[in-house]
Amino acid sequence: MEPTFREYAHGSSDYQKALILRYCILARDNSIPDSAVEFVYGPHEDEQNQFLLGAFDGSQLLATLNLQEKDGALLLRQFAVHEKQQGTGLGMKLLRFAHAFARKRGYKRIVLHARMNVIGFYEKGGYVLTDKRYVYPDLTLAHMYIDL
Ligand SMILES: CC(C)(COP(=O)(O)OP(=O)(O)OC[C@H]1O[C@@H](n2cnc3c(N)ncnc32)[C@H](O)[C@@H]1OP(=O)(O)O)[C@@H](O)C(=O)NCCC(=O)NCCS
Repeated sequence: MEPTFREYAHGSSDYQKALILRYCILARDNSIPDSAVEFVYGPHEDEQNQFLLGAFDGSQLLATLNLQEKDGALLLRQFAVHEKQQGTGLGMKLLRFAHAFARKRGYKRIVLHARMNVIGFYEKGGYVLTDKRYVYPDLTLAHMYIDL
C-alpha cells in the first residue's frame, strides 16, 4: 500500500506512536553514545507548537519528523523512519512532503542539525552543508539548510 503523508496532532494517539518510534530509532541507535541520548531523543517540551508530520500505512506510523519555527525559518528535528522502511525511499518522500508543507505556509528556509553519517541523505534532498558544527560530548552535528 502506498503510504500517506499528513500532519498529526500533539497529544493524539499518532503522537504517542511517534514518541515510541522516535525512542526506538533515535534514542536506541547504537551510534549514539549514552551521554547524548537525552539530547537526541528529547526534549519534548514545546512540541505542541511544532508541526508534526508523518508517513502512514493506514493507522501505522512509518516515519515522522518535526518542524519547529525558529527565527522565521523552520528547524527540522526528530526525523525517524521505521527500521524496516529505511532505505526504501520513504525518508526522502517524507522530506519532500515537509518541503511542500512548509512552502504552502510561506516559509522560505528549513535548517537542520545533521548527524555526520546522514549528511549525504540531506544533500540528496537538496540541503547545503555549512561549516558550522554543534559539538556535544561524543556527538557532532552539522548545520545544513535548504532554501525552498
Ligand atoms: C536518515 C533517514 C531519515 C533516511 O531515510 P530513509 O528512508 O532510510 O532514506 P531513503 O531510502 O529515502 O534514501 C534516499 C536516498 O538517500 C540515500 N541515503 C539514505 N541514508 C543515507 C545516509 N545515511 N547517507 C548517505 N545517503 C543516504 C539513499 O541511498 C537514497 O539514495 P538514492 O536515491 O540515490 O537511492 C532514516 O534512515 C533514519 O531514520 N535513520 C535513523 C535515524 C536518523 O539518523 N535520523 C536523522 C538524524 S539527523
